Amino acid sequence: MVSKDQINILLIEDEDFDVRRIENTIRPFASQIKIIDVVSDGISALDLLGIKKNSYDLVVMDFQIAGGLRGEQLIKKIKDSDPSLQIIVVTKMTINITNYEFAHNLMEAGAFWYCTKYPGDIEDYIYQPTDFVMAIFNAAEKRKLIKDKQKSNQKLDRKVGDILAGKKIIGISNEVKKLREQIEKFANSNTPILISGSSGTGKELVAYNLHYTGNRKFENFIPINCGSIPDQLIESELFGYEKGAFTGADKGKLGLFELANNGTIFLDEVSELPLSSQVKLLRVLQEGEVEKLGRTEKVKVNVRIISASNKSLETEVKEKRFREDLYYRLNVMPINVPNLSQRKEDIHFLVDYFMNEFAIDMGKEIPVITEDAMKKLVNYEWPGNIRELKNLVQRLLFFDEKVIDSVLIDNAIGKRVFEPEISLASDEGISFRNPEGIVILKTMEKTFREKYFRYVRKQSDSDAEAAKKLGLAPPNYSRMCKELGLK
Ligand SMILES: Nc1ncnc2c1ncn2[C@@H]1O[C@H](COP(=O)(O)OP(=O)(O)OP(=O)(O)O)[C@@H](O)[C@H]1O
Ligand SMILES: [Mg+2]
Repeated sequence: MVSKDQINILLIEDEDFDVRRIENTIRPFASQIKIIDVVSDGISALDLLGIKKNSYDLVVMDFQIAGGLRGEQLIKKIKDSDPSLQIIVVTKMTINITNYEFAHNLMEAGAFWYCTKYPGDIEDYIYQPTDFVMAIFNAAEKRKLIKDKQKSNQKLDRKVGDILAGKKIIGISNEVKKLREQIEKFANSNTPILISGSSGTGKELVAYNLHYTGNRKFENFIPINCGSIPDQLIESELFGYEKGAFTGADKGKLGLFELANNGTIFLDEVSELPLSSQVKLLRVLQEGEVEKLGRTEKVKVNVRIISASNKSLETEVKEKRFREDLYYRLNVMPINVPNLSQRKEDIHFLVDYFMNEFAIDMGKEIPVITEDAMKKLVNYEWPGNIRELKNLVQRLLFFDEKVIDSVLIDNAIGKRVFEPEISLASDEGISFRNPEGIVILKTMEKTFREKYFRYVRKQSDSDAEAAKKLGLAPPNYSRMCKELGLK
């Protein structure tokens, strides 16, 4: 389809006779194609392109013109000034039309098309006028496509900017500086990255930053919590299935790997992946192909894999819970996120940052934190790392005090165990009475589960220990915790 918009041309031609031939060639399309300006040398053309930015859609240029700047060199300079500008070159017939190298060099330099002039004195048109006009329309169409793409990329850029603004990595410590450097270095690479670090240190944050600052930022970022998908569903979630693959599969299902094609998959809590899925994942990494249930040929995917674990994968390998070959495949570029206690100089900045964020969110004034109080925060060990600090700051704002002193900090830190939500962890029993009357069994069961989970979690040092005490497989435990809103 030919666009209805007017096509504006800058013509670079130093012979009046040729200018007239070109004008005559496009005359039948005068309502759509306009020669806005004519210049006779390369330097003047570049000057004009600099002054009248965005005034032209394409440049039609003679190959042999007077002045030092011409040919491929001029084409490159024009493209540098605006890569979306399209260039059509007109040459003398003396150029051998089977000279592929000549054509190739022009295209390499950035020309869209080239055509030759009639050798004789025909003033009505240059050689093959229809080709010339078609080339103009096509070039304008290409310019429009590039412009549209630039516009939508700008929009996406703003969206990516918004996402990144909410995923800032705060801190000034050398550890955080190193993290930022690693993110910058790895963001554009396609090799798998394994992020390790204790719970709440910011592994997920690092994964987001890797994706949204890299060259896959406009593609999908698919985070998957490997611990929260039941074992029997994990393969169909990751790899999908075809219609009729099993009884009940009346529709096909796109796997998350296909959804993440050209983008990034974030395998969070990757240590929780069952061994059977580990084999399949290994195949995706080795061959870039997904094996879909019910399909004989494999599906090609191009996915960058970022994984994270707060368990030591090396230990998991030693204990035979994680495949060694998969471990090496995932751990091509390791990033370790250190505990907050190893970067205490960040605490001040993190507190300020979260205070500010929450205060705006909750419509509260930002309280003053006394020096003693800040000292307390810095000296505290932060076993739950930044997540714990973030929660504590939110709790401090709930106190509604203008000044936060060290006593309040003691309370807030101590309250970790006595807070209303945590006090449910006591074993004081369950009341059947409810202001709304008798509740259904399912609700009561949920209350019981929640209380019991909280109680057992309080009695355990780690999730693994709590899961064991409850007699649950860690992934199931993790999923149930999430369902109960405990994680
Ligand atoms: N340097 C930081 N600057 C600002 N916010 C941070 C920073 N590090 C972590 N956070 C915030 O702390 C919280 C916990 O971080 P995140 O979820 O990334 O941790 P994690 O290492 O993935 O934890 P887990 O192992 O428990 O999943 C998030 O709300 C995150 O935005
Ligand atoms: Mg996480």
